[in-house]
Amino acid sequence: MKRYVDTSIKQSEITPREIFEDRRQLIKNAAAGAFGLPLATWFSREAFAETASYGGAKLKTTTDSIYSTKEALSSYKDVTSYNNFYEFGTDKAEPALRSGTLQIRPWTLSVEGLVKKPMSFDIDDLLKLAPIEERIYRLRCVEGWSMVIPWDGYPLSRLLAQVEPLGSAKFVEFVSLADRKQMPGLSDPVLNWPYREGLRLDEAMNPLTLLTLGLYGEQLPKQSGAPIRIVVPWKYGFKSAKSIVKIRLVDQQPVTSWNQAAAREYGFYSNVNPSVDHPRWSQANERRIGDGRGIFSPKIKTEIFNGYGSQVASMYTGMDLKKYF
Ligand code: MTE
Repeated sequence: MKRYVDTSIKQSEITPREIFEDRRQLIKNAAAGAFGLPLATWFSREAFAETASYGGAKLKTTTDSIYSTKEALSSYKDVTSYNNFYEFGTDKAEPALRSGTLQIRPWTLSVEGLVKKPMSFDIDDLLKLAPIEERIYRLRCVEGWSMVIPWDGYPLSRLLAQVEPLGSAKFVEFVSLADRKQMPGLSDPVLNWPYREGLRLDEAMNPLTLLTLGLYGEQLPKQSGAPIRIVVPWKYGFKSAKSIVKIRLVDQQPVTSWNQAAAREYGFYSNVNPSVDHPRWSQANERRIGDGRGIFSPKIKTEIFNGYGSQVASMYTGMDLKKYF
């Protein structure tokens, strides 16, 4: 990425699993109307009012499934205050501080291109489409850090099934919102806006690829890519496009923003791979953010495919992953 901020990561509040579970139960109860007005202030995050619709009955916990890691979660505070979202600035702290201007309702996501039934969805359509599942995924950034985040969403394949991809569709392109009025970072030509990412169709259809609407049991905070983003856990974080407005099925490998900006550094595939160095640094190790140890957190060995090899390696059989990095 443009700058490596070797931060003095704050010794932030850790949200242990039990507290998170308690909070989620409270949100569910509140959504079910079990509490009266006094608690409204307790849930003062803007997110609450809008998350009640899925913080309740529709949340299906899949944390025991093959899809979730059992590793300690990164704290809510770190997950939501140490972000890459260049539309709001290139510094990790900026998205949380500057994304207040993002209007997340109404929001339309159009799914188009090589499909039988092009369609537009608003957030309520997306919430109704499939039960929200919670999945605990690692997110590994090229800059050498990672987090463990409880995401709420469902497989992107369920959305793609709605539009019926044509046989000629080979890739999926994701396009983020680009509105100068809402996104102050767009005045910096650090990337060719709008932010674009892409996956091969089979990658997009893999059950790990999540259409993500929330985290930690509540609607996505703006800095995390509200109201809707993609999460692709076996790839470097930049493949997980935030605040998307368009998904296009295409027959050619799409141009992606980071590849356009620095092709030697950011390939199309971007699978987490400890044996492929970034031209400016090694990718062999990572530091887990939000594990409570701040800058004293020891480096851990990075796993191929970010540890999701058993679910994804077969998609790359016979491919030279050094060439297609
Ligand atoms: N999506 C958009 N639209 N703009 C961005 O700058 N940054 C990417 C990705 N998605 C980015 C984006 C990068 S580099 C990373 S590491 C992840 O978002 C960070 O996600 P997080 O802030 O939720 O950890």
